[in-house]
Amino acid sequence: MKAEITPPDTLLIIFGANGDLSKRKLLPALYHLDVEGLLPKRWHVLGTARSEVSDDEFRQMAQAAIAEFGKCEPEGERWERFSQRLTFVSTKFSAENTQELTAAISDAEDLMGDTSEQLLLYLSTPPQTFGTITEGLGVAGLAKRCRVVYEKPFGMDRSSFEELDALVQRELSEEQTYRIDHFLGKETVQNILAFRFANGAFEATWNRAHIDHVQIDVPEDMGVEERAGFYDRAGALRDMLVTHLFQVLSVIAMEPPTRLESGPLIDEKVKVFHSMRDLRPEDVVLGQYEGYPDEDGVADDSTTETFVAVRVFIDNWRWDGVPFYLRTGKMMAEKRQTVTMAFRPPPATMFPEHTSRHLARDRLTFELGGEGGVEFTFLAKKPGPSIELGPVSMSFDYGEAFGSGLIDAYERLIHDALLGDRTLFTRADGIAATWDLLEEVLNEQTSPLPYARGSWGPDAAAELIAPRHWYLPDRPEIDEAITTEKATS
Ligand code: BG6
Repeated sequence: MKAEITPPDTLLIIFGANGDLSKRKLLPALYHLDVEGLLPKRWHVLGTARSEVSDDEFRQMAQAAIAEFGKCEPEGERWERFSQRLTFVSTKFSAENTQELTAAISDAEDLMGDTSEQLLLYLSTPPQTFGTITEGLGVAGLAKRCRVVYEKPFGMDRSSFEELDALVQRELSEEQTYRIDHFLGKETVQNILAFRFANGAFEATWNRAHIDHVQIDVPEDMGVEERAGFYDRAGALRDMLVTHLFQVLSVIAMEPPTRLESGPLIDEKVKVFHSMRDLRPEDVVLGQYEGYPDEDGVADDSTTETFVAVRVFIDNWRWDGVPFYLRTGKMMAEKRQTVTMAFRPPPATMFPEHTSRHLARDRLTFELGGEGGVEFTFLAKKPGPSIELGPVSMSFDYGEAFGSGLIDAYERLIHDALLGDRTLFTRADGIAATWDLLEEVLNEQTSPLPYARGSWGPDAAAELIAPRHWYLPDRPEIDEAITTEKATS
């Protein structure tokens, strides 16, 4: 993993620079990296998109976005200095139309006073545009000297992945290709590696002998906001499951890598995808929140899924027979990002059955959202003359333990791309394997089941996991049920 902190001088070109991702994540991330002193000594951001946007409009848009979504106020001298390094070019870049962008790159290089800086391109555009832009880079002669960050999803299914991959490999080497999945940049996802491989306590239990099942649960309370154009074509399967949730699963399930370096780490994650059983339609529940087709930009008869829950099996020695349940959806009751490892019950219980029957089993929960943390929940005897058990927990919170000031996922990954560290990016063979897993489900996609806004998705998702249950929503009332039962029995 990386040792140096200050990246080399860089001209960063953002495609789709006035889009939702750029406003919510990229521009705020860059500003915070600047505040933390993590940008190169000399850098420049050239935004580009099809719409007409002037340099000043781009700067105003960036300021408003950073004020709304960023961690630090864009004001004063620091903001002035930052904003002067932002320029914009409006163009429909393609193999047939490269001049406007290349001219704008020369202008930006003049402003930087150098032409030896590295070129980093960030494709924050819909997946359908990746091919056209990549071809254009080849024709413009830019492919020879740049790194390219591709947003997810990389392809829309196995065959479009293959087409895109072939084109990208024709223009760029693997070392120049950065396929981003920002969940891999989350502090707690990396902490799973530390938790598993730097401690003796839990790794011994990290297998089928001790784990009953695993849940990766990422409900979201927001809808599609301004991204309907993209989302209605992608849906939850492509936007979240085959990307973020599968990547997190691979970190949970992988074998220890020989070294904490890009190659060995990614090798182990890819092995997990190869060991996963192809998803069958009966392992999948799709949902659509009520009123979704009425959202701006969504087709009136849209059958796009805004919710997905799946049951996955990994057919290898470590995980044979252990189900992994994955769930995510828009407009659900709460925004959370959790991974729960549920332990098997002890072989025999010496406690009266009614004292623990309703309780969830002991489990380890990783909170990936916010500042992140880890919680271990287990049963303890309640103080008092009778034997009565209740759930208690021990927890670790990043903010409390190490203070705030952490850099978030996008900040980390942009910084890694600036430094040329590909450890936390994905590889083509891994993505190919994930598309294979979904092939049957994508081909035989059924209509999604409706669910109410603010709910936990269609009832079928509860049936999918039964007789187990989703740990979210948190259920303090289970504890109450015991007390009540005891009082009345
Ligand atoms: C994005 C998805 O990649 O991740 C969105 O396209 C989703 O649909 C988002 O809302 C979640 O990201 P975060 O920042 O909440 O971890």
